[in-house]
Amino acid sequence: MKNLIVPLLACIACAVIVSFTAVSVRYEQKLNQENEKKEKILAAAGIKTGNIDEEFSKIKTLFFSFETGELVSVESGYDHIKAASNAALSNIVPSKLDIAIIKRQEKIAPVYVWLDETSNIEKIVLPIRGYGLWGTLYGYLSLGPDLNSVMGIEYYEHKETPGLGGEVDNPNWKSGWQGKKIYNSEGSVSLKVVKGVSKDDYEIDGMSGATITSNGVTNMINFWLGDQGYGPIIKKLNEVIE
Ligand SMILES: Cc1cc2nc3c(=O)[nH]c(=O)nc-3n(C[C@H](O)[C@H](O)[C@H](O)COP(=O)(O)O)c2cc1C
Repeated sequence: MKNLIVPLLACIACAVIVSFTAVSVRYEQKLNQENEKKEKILAAAGIKTGNIDEEFSKIKTLFFSFETGELVSVESGYDHIKAASNAALSNIVPSKLDIAIIKRQEKIAPVYVWLDETSNIEKIVLPIRGYGLWGTLYGYLSLGPDLNSVMGIEYYEHKETPGLGGEVDNPNWKSGWQGKKIYNSEGSVSLKVVKGVSKDDYEIDGMSGATITSNGVTNMINFWLGDQGYGPIIKKLNEVIE
């Protein structure tokens, strides 16, 4: 019996150390993920240098209901991506409307807003997500003061193949989004990723050998900037800010 006490105590000590390390690493990982998201929000808006927290403190984060289009308040720490998998906080997207293949849409989501010194909108960033070839791509799209011209796009998570669909991370491809227009003169979402080279303000160069990812990007822009997504919110955002 005595012979068992020392190994038993060693096992308990190891278990405690392993659990403690796992818990503290999980905390660090969560912090890193949150920081990476903040970095991508800033990068989409063209802010690639400076202190993340300082730059982030200049942003007004507003939350909107997709059901009513109204500005709403949320509990601190609200995570719209987590909400999308919570039945009480999300809705099933009917399959004929689910062009981004997200299955469930959170009821409430953030809009990140930069205001100038006269409280006019300088730029906004919207979360976007949708299915590519291998999985869901998660990212952010930024619009300028006209709430139509693109300032930038960034993805923080995807499973697409490097060199093919993974070209969504290529700085050259991303720079092709700057100045492109989302809505046509009738107010419909018109921006799309085309096969080959873009010809006008409503086209983005296709990623060669990656038409499926390219189409996925087009579909998520259509969904999130359209009537099911931020479309109605964008249309009255200026009134809400006043
Ligand atoms: C191993 C492997 C990985 C692939 N990864 C992607 C990808 O990430 N995105 C994508 O759209 N197509 C990917 N493809 C190619 C698709 O199967 C498909 O052929 C392609 O999207 C068609 O685009 P294209 O008409 O521009 O050639 C991959 C193919 C293979 C064999």
